Amino acid sequence: MNQVSSPLIQATLLCKRFKVGKKCLNALRDINISIGKGETLGLVGESGCGKSTMGKVLLRLEEPTSGNIYFQKKKVNSFSPSEMRTYRRSAQMIYQDPYASLNPRMSIKDIVGEGLDIHKLASSAIREETILEALAEVGLGREVIERYPHEFSGGQRQRIVIARAMVMKPQFIVCDEPLSSLDMCTQKQIMTLLLRFKQEKQLTYLFISHDLHAVREISDRVAVMYLGKIVEQATNDQLFSTPLHPYTQALLSAVPTMDPQKERDRLRIILKGELPSPFNPPTGCAFHPRCPVAMPICQKIDPCLKELESGHFVACHKFDEAD
Ligand SMILES: Nc1ncnc2c1ncn2[C@@H]1O[C@H](COP(=O)(O)OP(=O)(O)O)[C@@H](O)[C@H]1O
Ligand SMILES: [Mg+2]
Repeated sequence: MNQVSSPLIQATLLCKRFKVGKKCLNALRDINISIGKGETLGLVGESGCGKSTMGKVLLRLEEPTSGNIYFQKKKVNSFSPSEMRTYRRSAQMIYQDPYASLNPRMSIKDIVGEGLDIHKLASSAIREETILEALAEVGLGREVIERYPHEFSGGQRQRIVIARAMVMKPQFIVCDEPLSSLDMCTQKQIMTLLLRFKQEKQLTYLFISHDLHAVREISDRVAVMYLGKIVEQATNDQLFSTPLHPYTQALLSAVPTMDPQKERDRLRIILKGELPSPFNPPTGCAFHPRCPVAMPICQKIDPCLKELESGHFVACHKFDEAD
């Protein structure tokens, strides 16, 4: 699945298995992705399907069980300690909860400056200037630097989290549900900020969200995950105009539209049951017990991801005839 000619980040056959007591669960199953420089890949799917794990494994905050990760064509899995240090700077993460991800005992100056100190990136002469620059980029002024996280609103904290990532001058950022703990108005502001960095700095994002409006706004391509596997991947336009996988269709049908006429006609596909236990996944296609159009083959054989039109990949037996 290599539609990006010169990927900044790429993963091939990525698997992550967690052992919980005596049981195992496959949080990532044979994931192939590639994201070009300046491109945003949206990642959607129900809670527990493996989105955060994918972000963490790409950044090597979790080790993959198998498969490879490449950054600028170099294999991240076999980076030397010094290459790994460079990667730690170039690839950053913005977490969902700005309340949990800021140390309450550190001043804003030290929070934003921590990465600079660890990587010895700024002499004491330019440390403060560099921190102020990063804060200015997210719309915060000099007056915040001696203050502490509890003095700030959720939106301001998320700006601080973003400044902490941006101060490292990253090339790749995993945004893991960056808007979900914020109110609507603040969500818009943070979105505007992320979009501006994408355009001005050619930043590359993996944008994880269950807010499909936000995913549509920022992504160039979108991948849909179900129980650790990508079941559909397409360009933004293809995915939102002609979703092909029954799971994607159900996800999109749950999103209210702004247009009252369309909203009246909107057909909701209600999925049967819950996300199955990852400890005991269904046979064949993992989606088959909930799929409204499941066929006998779906219980037996897990469908491969196939390219149905240029750039549009689907893993579903419904399209087997198209071979
Ligand atoms: N450190 C861990 N140990 C054991 N299981 C984990 C761990 N992290 C995640 N999981 C499990 O892996 C699956 C995917 O989790 P996660 O990546 O957090 O999903 P998402 O971000 O899509 O909600 C879930 O079943 C979750 O319980
Ligand atoms: Mg998550």
